[in-house]
Amino acid sequence: MRQAPTVAGRLPRIVPTGAALGACVEGVDLRGLDTETFAFIYQAWLDHQVLLVRDQSLTDADLLAFSRRFGDLDEAPIQETGRRFVEGYPEIYVVSNVVQNGVPMGSLGAGEAVWHTDMSYLPDPPKASVLYAIEVPPQGGDTSFCSMTAAWAELPDPLRQRAAGLRVKHDGTYNSGGYVREGVTPTGDPRTSPGTLHPLVFVHPETGRPGLYLGRRRNAYIEGLSLEDSNALLDEIWAEATRASLTWTHQWRVGDLVLWDNRCTMHRRDAFDPAARRVMHRTQIRR
Ligand code: OGA
Ligand code: MN
Repeated sequence: MRQAPTVAGRLPRIVPTGAALGACVEGVDLRGLDTETFAFIYQAWLDHQVLLVRDQSLTDADLLAFSRRFGDLDEAPIQETGRRFVEGYPEIYVVSNVVQNGVPMGSLGAGEAVWHTDMSYLPDPPKASVLYAIEVPPQGGDTSFCSMTAAWAELPDPLRQRAAGLRVKHDGTYNSGGYVREGVTPTGDPRTSPGTLHPLVFVHPETGRPGLYLGRRRNAYIEGLSLEDSNALLDEIWAEATRASLTWTHQWRVGDLVLWDNRCTMHRRDAFDPAARRVMHRTQIRR
């Protein structure tokens, strides 16, 4: 059933997931939010890092209009199959396994997408991503989120001491589905592969909360260490940072919109039956 549009003075309900991060926003239609309701949702997003809004019926224009309230949008990135965006909407990136006339309509296929932060191989990654479910498989394809502020807060002391002040090279060779990005020559050496150095501990510019900033494990490299020491320390940190108690998993329904803070969370996706259809539209907010 459609929910009534928000009226001024009646704010939506924020229901935390009970996990380390995430909350559901109830009683809201994201089309045409008033200023007060938007400010309320924005604060809830900063507080909970990931928001789920169910039962929406958004056109691509609605999705763009909602996303734009958070800031300037990026154009859809070029992926393994070239630039896959919605015709006429270059900011809407398609995440899909569906193949039409031999051409994939989107990125990431039907396999697992490993833990990652979006586009951290760039010097200035997008602050947020919005993912909207248009078609979902009957099972599989769940998306999990991990709180990187909680990961930092709960990191054992000896590891915290070793991590402080370090920078990590975020690799730009592979995307989270394991596909080589277009125009990149794959290399197994993270010291020379394309990418960007970011501090391992990142202070969130809006909340002031510190968090681990890991990006992706594959081809990551800690500046100044031997490859062996870098891999050993990264493996230790990653094992702590992706413990189940730091995560929340979402099972999609059509009409779900999920908005995540890309500065203080990571996400991953389960594989699903390649014969099933999964179609998601994504926007990214630059800053
Ligand atoms: C993304 C992503 C996972 C999913 O859009 O950045 O990682 O569940 N998607 O489709
Ligand atoms: Mn992603």
